[in-house]
Amino acid sequence: GIDPFTKMTRPSSDLTAFREHFAKAKHIAIITGAGVSAESGVPTFRGPGGFWRKWQAQDLATPEAFSRDPSLVWEFYHYRREVMRSKMPNPAHLAIAECEARLGQQGRSVVIITQNIDELHHRAGSKHVYEIHGSLFKTRCMSCGEVKANHKSPICPALDGKGAPDPNTKEARIPVELLPRCERKSCNGLLRPHVVWFGETLDSDILTAVERELEKCDLCLVVGTSSIVYPAAMFAPQVASRGVPVAEFNMECTPATQRFKYHFEGPCGSTLPPALERHESEAV
Ligand code: APR
Repeated sequence: GIDPFTKMTRPSSDLTAFREHFAKAKHIAIITGAGVSAESGVPTFRGPGGFWRKWQAQDLATPEAFSRDPSLVWEFYHYRREVMRSKMPNPAHLAIAECEARLGQQGRSVVIITQNIDELHHRAGSKHVYEIHGSLFKTRCMSCGEVKANHKSPICPALDGKGAPDPNTKEARIPVELLPRCERKSCNGLLRPHVVWFGETLDSDILTAVERELEKCDLCLVVGTSSIVYPAAMFAPQVASRGVPVAEFNMECTPATQRFKYHFEGPCGSTLPPALERHESEAV
């Protein structure tokens, strides 16, 4: 609709109209960010709780921080891995997974393109997930490059009990030989979290696959992301510019909101389930 005061078009919050698109869509792309996990108790980056000790993710999630102080960066990631042990997928993750399974049986596709590294989409049962920023539960060897799933707790003995978030915590200063190391024979290289850090590029195979999904989709949802970190921030606007309906589910407006057809404001654990539930026109 047109706002009578600003004369700008603004996105609609008409759920029935959105549901008409949803009922017809054959290929749905769902882009998610930290907000989809907020109701699971995982802090967002730019909201309250975005600090660990005196740092924000942007300070420690960099290759420079890791080469300067791998012990500190590992303490930070160890903490984030351990926190996830008590967190569960919430109704937003579950609605997405359920929708993916149901539409899959109807020969329709749902793909999830997530910036999150918490694996909650997988744990909710989603199968078709692109983790464009990697995973907290994968490591990459700095020497041999091997990428490996790793759900150990603690990830290594030296990190046991370390990583407390309180700003007064003394740094563990773990010698580099005692940090997580590659288990491949004759390698023993230093492991790093297999996550994309600030200043690093996304995996080009994943990016190519994601681009293909974005070109193919006929409906796009963008859930719980501030839409300010590139390249993910341009995915949904890029789809919208093809004339494909895009629906944003967020607590607030973002820099991208005006480019979308729909905006559903509120916690996505409440707004997504009714948006994605079975439409009366769907085959059973
Ligand atoms: N439901 C829907 N949206 C929510 C909810 C909720 N319950 N809670 C918060 N949000 C929204 C916020 O309004 C905000 O727009 O989620 C968004 C979270 O934004 P960020 O913290 O910036 O997270 P994200 O967009 O995922 O950040 C992108 O930045 O720090 C890097 O690599 C990190 O992947 C991350 C990237």
